[in-house]
Amino acid sequence: MDTETLAGQQAAPREAAARKVFVKTYGCQMNVYDSQRMADALAADGYVATDAPEDADLVLLNTCHIREKAAEKVYSELGRIRDMRELRARAGRETLIGVTGCVAQAEGQEILRRAPAVDLVVGPQTYHRLPEVVRKARAGEKVVETDYAIEDKFEHLPAPRTTAVRSRGVTAFLTVQEGCDKFCTFCVVPYTRGSEVSRPVAQIVAEAERLAAAGVREVTLLGQNVNAWHGEGAANGVKTRQWGLGELLFRLAEIPGIARLRYTTSHPRDMDDALIAAHRDLPALMPYLHLPIQSGSDRILKAMNRRHTAADYLRLIDRIRAARPDIAMSGDFIVGFPGESDADFEATMEIVREVGYAQAFSFKYSPRPGTPAAENALQVAEAVKDERLQRLQALLSEQQAAFAQSLVGRRIGLLIEKPGRHPGQMVGRSPWLQPVIVDEKAGGIGDIVEVRITRAPANTLFAEPV
Ligand code: 5AD
Ligand code: SF4
Repeated sequence: MDTETLAGQQAAPREAAARKVFVKTYGCQMNVYDSQRMADALAADGYVATDAPEDADLVLLNTCHIREKAAEKVYSELGRIRDMRELRARAGRETLIGVTGCVAQAEGQEILRRAPAVDLVVGPQTYHRLPEVVRKARAGEKVVETDYAIEDKFEHLPAPRTTAVRSRGVTAFLTVQEGCDKFCTFCVVPYTRGSEVSRPVAQIVAEAERLAAAGVREVTLLGQNVNAWHGEGAANGVKTRQWGLGELLFRLAEIPGIARLRYTTSHPRDMDDALIAAHRDLPALMPYLHLPIQSGSDRILKAMNRRHTAADYLRLIDRIRAARPDIAMSGDFIVGFPGESDADFEATMEIVREVGYAQAFSFKYSPRPGTPAAENALQVAEAVKDERLQRLQALLSEQQAAFAQSLVGRRIGLLIEKPGRHPGQMVGRSPWLQPVIVDEKAGGIGDIVEVRITRAPANTLFAEPV
């Protein structure tokens, strides 16, 4: 039914109906998780999530500041939403517009100046205050909330709701750590997400148990620097020594229903022995590791303040592969960092050839306000960045396709996630995070079944039950 044309007639029931919130997510997986938690927090205040922005009484853009392109997208989207708000206003409906996430944190008040239609701006450390901010905004106040909150936001956020988790499927994200103290010279994260904070073990276990109870089978632990996570361990209610991520993974694997664990994103300097041992000894820990190196050149790594060399990274990968030979590596790369010469770039190509990535993300360096590298006088020309990115991406896609092909004929465990695009098909996820298409006879959503990979055209894996 077209609600626009029925606006007058429907005024009364609409007032009685729940208010709707539409959240659009940009950027990383932590933003995906945060968007869900914001929806959970607002649900406690009577907001129902919708996928249709034109139906929403509250539109939230959960933004990313990592590269200029990501940040600028927000302003064009705000233009579209402002137009939509005018259409709704003509039908007598109000719309609140909010900006959350890393652009909110980085730009704060400036957002209201550039986009006066915005009603509220809330940074990532204060999502637990969102319901209160929305109430104030509904009363006509413009609210900017970008403190690094002193209170623990996680303690104040309501638990993920069972019904919401069910509708989100059998895989879930769980933030265990936020922020970063590494200060890579290209990166805004230490400024937008603040300094490193680990969530306590009990909070994480409780959340994982709720996810499991709602049918989640695979949990991906999230953190900007996830392997720097640490916390007070506990046995029989008694606090024990400090745990690292390895110990936490063992604890989470004990939860009935949780069959698969992953974590992302890691820093090479925080891969400790216990975590590597978990890759050897913990079957639930999936053989896939996102471990960015950014560049293969020691000179550039130093200028990036990565505090490791290419050789350190290769040695680390040797140790990880010794522990878990079938581990698939994933990474991030930046081309055109200030001062990057042809030889530096060739060193990046070389490390990619040596490691062999199953999956990787690569970006042109984007100067970010407030970061040291943005001030560097040796910025690389755009055309040079373009050319390097193309060459790097060609090599990475070749490796990705080769990895997919190498699985043809193999038996693997498949977690079935949802119906496929065509009738009779299901889509699942391989241990290496690839989507796999299989006949629906293989099993139901949430099952982990044995299948054989039959073919891998264009990186899509097809499988048959065994
Ligand atoms: N320019 C380009 N890429 C960046 N990344 C982080 N900051 C920048 C930047 N200023 C990339 C890194 C990081 C990933 C999340 O984004 O590769 O690992
Ligand atoms: Fe983007 Fe980083 Fe913020 Fe994630 S943490 S949204 S990647 S700036």
